Amino acid sequence: MPEKLFSRRAFSRTALQSFAAAFALPRLRSQENFRHNLPSGDGYIRISFNENNYGPSPKATQALDACGPIANRYPFVSEMGMTQALADYHGVKPENVILGCGSTEILRVADEAYLAPDKNLVVAEPTFEAVLEYAGIEHADSVKIPLTADHRHNLSRMADACTSKTGLIYICNPNNPTATIVTRDAMAEFIDRVPRTTLILVDEAYFDFVDDPRYASVLPLIPSHPNLVMARTFSKIFGMAGMRLGYAVGAPETLAPMRKLLVQDSANAAVLNAGLASLQDRDYIAECRGKFIATRKWLAAELAKDGRNFTESQANFVMIDVGTDVTPVIKQFMDRKILIGRRFPSMSDWIRVSIGKQAEMETFVTALREIVPAKGSRAA
Ligand SMILES: Cc1ncc(COP(=O)(O)O)c(C=O)c1O
Repeated sequence: MPEKLFSRRAFSRTALQSFAAAFALPRLRSQENFRHNLPSGDGYIRISFNENNYGPSPKATQALDACGPIANRYPFVSEMGMTQALADYHGVKPENVILGCGSTEILRVADEAYLAPDKNLVVAEPTFEAVLEYAGIEHADSVKIPLTADHRHNLSRMADACTSKTGLIYICNPNNPTATIVTRDAMAEFIDRVPRTTLILVDEAYFDFVDDPRYASVLPLIPSHPNLVMARTFSKIFGMAGMRLGYAVGAPETLAPMRKLLVQDSANAAVLNAGLASLQDRDYIAECRGKFIATRKWLAAELAKDGRNFTESQANFVMIDVGTDVTPVIKQFMDRKILIGRRFPSMSDWIRVSIGKQAEMETFVTALREIVPAKGSRAA
């Protein structure tokens, strides 16, 4: 009988989940306090959220400006256009693509579709927390595998941790917050080891910043591995973090349970049109990429000159060991009108600093030398 099926325990679980979702879904806990603490107003160097400080392509801004006449229409046509454009961009079919309100929506629906109270999530520690926080909403356990001593995913331990209970394994490549990569060969070997019953979600938010030739997207592995999904975003190299557009590529049957959970039309017409213009403006993206990589190299050389310990960055941010808890250090930067990244509890002595424009990074290095004197000058 239906009443029996809907047991008291199931009722409490559903009620608990809806209650938790109602309060927890709108914001990620890891970022909430940090966001509230941000000073409002201009004049700050913002190197805290791994954004593109050069902004979006001017063609994307023009596309936004032209959205007035379509603002009263539901965005079906734009959605189809963007899905086709992404399919062409990646050499797949439109049914291999889903769009989200930022890749955060992709991570959320992956958790919702593939996790449950009797399933677990396997992740690196530290990594981008969204997937962990949404797993909590699903009442799924998280198995955290510490990074290796050189701040990389410990893939063999992660594969060993996968059991028949593992609904999802998340690999952020390059990893946020460490900016380190998993190489193409290591990734291919790992994907072969993970059971086909586990969804492998590879988050390539920072794909475009990598210049290490040993790195590659997992895209070519998707046809032979239906349990593999790649997530990407327009928030990083495309400079559209405020506009909210992300997507996933995978096998249609793997994406199907995620597709059902997306908020209908969560990618709006304005962002879709701007995204399309960005995707077509390859010169602008190449120009931004060149600037980021040049500034990243410059910064690494300055940090090395100071004798500092920092991660081997392949993204638009880097972690720097400041040898003490970062909370007061973050505040000292803020007092100098420089906003750096939040504290990561398992790397509490390391600041995460996004790569801004060259002049911004020069200001940052000057401030760093004042706040945390270089090892050389400490010894002197
Ligand atoms: C690794 C990673 N994935 C996903 C996201 C979320 O990006 P989006 O703006 O597309 O929601 C971020 C944001 O910083 C990130 O670092």
